[in-house]
Amino acid sequence: MKNIVVLISGNGSNLQAIIDACKQKKINATIRAVFSNKAEAFGLERAREAGIPAHVLTADLFASREAFDRELMQEIDAYAPDVVVLAGYMRILSPAFVEHFAGRLLNIHPSLLPKYPGLHTHRQALENGDTEHGTSVHFVTDELDGGPVILQAKVPVFAGDTEDDVTARVQTQEHAIYPLVVSWLIEGRLVMRDNSAWLDGVRLPPQGHAYE
Ligand code: GRF
Repeated sequence: MKNIVVLISGNGSNLQAIIDACKQKKINATIRAVFSNKAEAFGLERAREAGIPAHVLTADLFASREAFDRELMQEIDAYAPDVVVLAGYMRILSPAFVEHFAGRLLNIHPSLLPKYPGLHTHRQALENGDTEHGTSVHFVTDELDGGPVILQAKVPVFAGDTEDDVTARVQTQEHAIYPLVVSWLIEGRLVMRDNSAWLDGVRLPPQGHAYE
């Protein structure tokens, strides 16, 4: 059985989607542990509820980002993960961390990358009058929200939408596409090579596979 470790900072609804997909055998792997950099993250409750070891590691105990990431890396390695999933993990990763897990480190970002890297993506989509928005699952590289995109899902933006409306619409898509991509990586169908994502031996276009 393959091993997954999930990193969170908050609500953990994407973690929940992955927990559920493992239970339903849509992902053929075990979530061995969940780590949060926030003690109050609700996702820790979700992990405990599912019987998954839930750990908190807060940055204030460390002198530098590198020291924090070194400790986190060691604790993650103890679970021998085949895949490390960032699910709303709100911390910049050090280059050493990214390099150590390269090719098995995934993130989900709530925009149609390369549009809107960084924070407040839903607000930006609304402010710019976009009629289309979405979410992207990508391999993590040193460039913030800039690694090869694997899968994107689009959602419409309607006149009068609030940020909450858009967030909810995007999250529904996230809960469908993130478990799917995790299952591809677990099954060995997905690899990162030459700064691209490859699925079943085919190089994916820069914006990944479209989820229809
Ligand atoms: C998601 O919208 C994800 O795209 C972003 O952070 C959010 C996390 O939500 N990276 P949750 O904690 O999984 O509910």
